Amino acid sequence: MERTLILIKPDGVARGLVGQILARIEAKGYRIDALSLRTATADELSAHYAEHEGKPFYQPLVDFMSEGPIVSIIASGQGVIPGFRSLAGATDPTAAAPGTIRGDLGRDWGEKVQKNLVHGSDSVESAEREIGIWFPA
Ligand code: CMP
Repeated sequence: MERTLILIKPDGVARGLVGQILARIEAKGYRIDALSLRTATADELSAHYAEHEGKPFYQPLVDFMSEGPIVSIIASGQGVIPGFRSLAGATDPTAAAPGTIRGDLGRDWGEKVQKNLVHGSDSVESAEREIGIWFPA
């Protein structure tokens, strides 16, 4: 069965949106196979965001992701990789369509990084790589 790696970022945890976000994942029919709440380590973040190293938003992104606990999730289901990304909505919460997690719950906080509540893997290869980072066992 297809699986993906989802992160509820520090803004989602701090704003008390974990329950709502999990409910949307489950209501869509995806299964939650693993879940952990903790603050990310510097090694996990540099591995997870390796492709963005050198971009202007990289350091603000890593700083933001270190601000507080995150929830890491393995979810599975038919088409869960593109399906969760469409549930999440566009990267920019202001542009994200109503009905999506970012469109309904996120907004532009006017900072250097998109505080956009969630991350979802973008391909089978990314999902397996990211699951290996957040759930090494
Ligand atoms: P995520 O899916 O975690 O992958 C990379 C993250 O970088 C993205 O969500 C946003 O939080 C952030 N990001 C991507 N593009 C930009 C951008 N142009 N400006 C600021 N932050 C960005």
